Amino acid sequence: MDLFSQLPDTEQDQIRQLRRSLEEANYRYYVLSDPTMSDREFDERMHQLQALEARHPEMADPNSPTQHVGSDLGKKGFEQVRHRYPMLSLANSYNREEIEDWGRKTGVQMAELNEPWEIVAELKYDGLSISLWYENGHLTRALTRGDGVQGDDVLRNVRTIPSIPTWVKGLPDRYEIRGEILLPWENFERLNREREQQEEPLFANPRNAASGTLKLQDPREVQRRGLTCYLYHVVGEQLPAGTHAEQLKQAQAWGFPVSDAVRVCHSVEEVMAFISDWDIRRKQLPVATDGIVLKVNNLRAQQALGFTAKTPRWAIAYKFPAERQLTLLRDITYQVGRTGVVTPVAVLDPIQLSGTVVQRATLHNEDFIRQLGIACGDKVWVEKGGEIIPKITGKENQTSTSTTTSTSTIFPSVCPECGTKLVKIEGEAAWRCPNEWKCPPQLKGKIEHFVSRKAMNIDGLGEETIDLLFQQGLIRSVADIYTLTKDELAGQERLGAKSAENILASIDRSKHNPWHRVLFALGIRMVGETTAKKIAHRFPSVDTLQWATREQLTAIPDVGPQIAECVVSYLMDERNLDILVRMRQAGVQMEDNQPQTTDNQRQTPITGLTIVISGVFQHHTRDEYKAIIESCGAKNSGSISSKTSFVLAGENMGPEKRKKAEQLGIPMRTEDEFLQLISNL
Ligand code: IVH
Repeated sequence: MDLFSQLPDTEQDQIRQLRRSLEEANYRYYVLSDPTMSDREFDERMHQLQALEARHPEMADPNSPTQHVGSDLGKKGFEQVRHRYPMLSLANSYNREEIEDWGRKTGVQMAELNEPWEIVAELKYDGLSISLWYENGHLTRALTRGDGVQGDDVLRNVRTIPSIPTWVKGLPDRYEIRGEILLPWENFERLNREREQQEEPLFANPRNAASGTLKLQDPREVQRRGLTCYLYHVVGEQLPAGTHAEQLKQAQAWGFPVSDAVRVCHSVEEVMAFISDWDIRRKQLPVATDGIVLKVNNLRAQQALGFTAKTPRWAIAYKFPAERQLTLLRDITYQVGRTGVVTPVAVLDPIQLSGTVVQRATLHNEDFIRQLGIACGDKVWVEKGGEIIPKITGKENQTSTSTTTSTSTIFPSVCPECGTKLVKIEGEAAWRCPNEWKCPPQLKGKIEHFVSRKAMNIDGLGEETIDLLFQQGLIRSVADIYTLTKDELAGQERLGAKSAENILASIDRSKHNPWHRVLFALGIRMVGETTAKKIAHRFPSVDTLQWATREQLTAIPDVGPQIAECVVSYLMDERNLDILVRMRQAGVQMEDNQPQTTDNQRQTPITGLTIVISGVFQHHTRDEYKAIIESCGAKNSGSISSKTSFVLAGENMGPEKRKKAEQLGIPMRTEDEFLQLISNL
């Protein structure tokens, strides 16, 4: 029966029902690829919901289908599913004695249970846990841990992992096996190299990279990145064997990826030998490991030992200490950032650490150097924890890191780049160069920040190109980006006419970025992405922001007096105002995207057209495209009809929409074609 034959009485209930039905439709469309609702019906219900929500602001909900594009199912695009058995974590310890104690304690408990003492030792893989469900031999779900109670079903991405079978002959009707998804070192490094080239933020470690990859919307990209998997835990009641080791063996025989580094130990000594052995051998492995997991082998004994609130009593993890090495501190250099902060950087004799060569490490600030008491020529300990940036943790033969004052490391008193006397930031350990308007790394740093992906997202203007343009005096501030010409760009080393055109097109596109991104891109001190959004929400244009008082600013949630001060002093500086005026003159959007009124409407190649957006896009979100279309005087419509001028078609465009457009002979434009069309605005 159609949901709508029985409309609920209250509008609030109608909202709830519409949200449910649209969510269901999204799920069927995007997850099951089996749509049951026509596009038209979907659009109609969406409009109805929008109208009702507008009448009931008290029911606003960021999770409503009106607030995200269809492919954004459940925000992240994956169905949330309850685990049949909670996904718990393990108690862990860095201390070998504690591990020995645990071994002895379980020995006593098992003797009481009359079970033999058998402990399975395995590697602890450092990735993301996954639970694979097989029904009648078919892989039907792949759930992330989530909050342990329910996780995301990332099946479509897990299907791209070659070692995970999607069908297994002879499996019990219902079979659940858990393990770890990992990105091998080699693929992790390749991915980070690519991201570096594209000036995207690097992943700190393979675990974060695997996590980011598993949540991607596009399974082809997941496949390209090359995830892998090790399985280590079979869950359920009717298990095919009496011990954990047998379960693993059986799973391996069925073709599941189970590691060979599994040993059934009969004594604590054997366990400790396994730990010592693998602490060395693991460095040769293609994937990251961070410890050893010990599990009681007998499943009945496991059951008898049971669980604490969070962890099983029948298992424990030993975590390897962070890898560290001694090397020579050759030199200390000083880097000046875009806000003028001077950061000391250690130059080291290169060493191999956790799979990568390390030759530089941050020393943070003057206090940090003092506390370590280090100076050039010292042998220092370098450690790599979970982060990609290595740390210096002390010097050779150092007994205490307390308040040793180094006599040989003297922090510079003037800026290493421009010679200006440094000033100390009140309440902070950092020294800053106050020569904001002339110090080259500060000027260049502001431009680099402005063009970066999360800011204006201008492609092709990397650090080197910015440096060249800066040296030639072609750009001194972010406003100069908008006056660059094709000849100026094409004249640069390693840039041809084509790259120059691409850069200019990307600069043009950046003019349509929403106001909050522009505000973030300006690089006002302490105004990060989230703060910029909050400020832009309260002050929807540069004109309103210009008159904002400290009090008004601090009334915004999470904006404190320091942030307010930074914003006000930025806007009080004539030189900044000049930049803002020039940006506006160049056509950069300095206000929230309001629908244009007829008297100030400019003529654009799409003025008066009716455009339908469908699919997923690379350069802007659907909401941004909607805003662009409206700001160009065109109409954005949700459904295709004979009045549609063209469809802006992204990837994975819905089959219904495509069919309809073809039937009515409506042209389709790709994202690039569309951007090209509006690029001269
Ligand atoms: S057994 C009831 N075995 O470590 C817990 N976990 O901190 C069953 N892990 O959530 C987990 N390698 O993501 C187990 N050989 C291994 C493991 C392993 C890595 C992860 C897993 C777990 C976390 C616990």
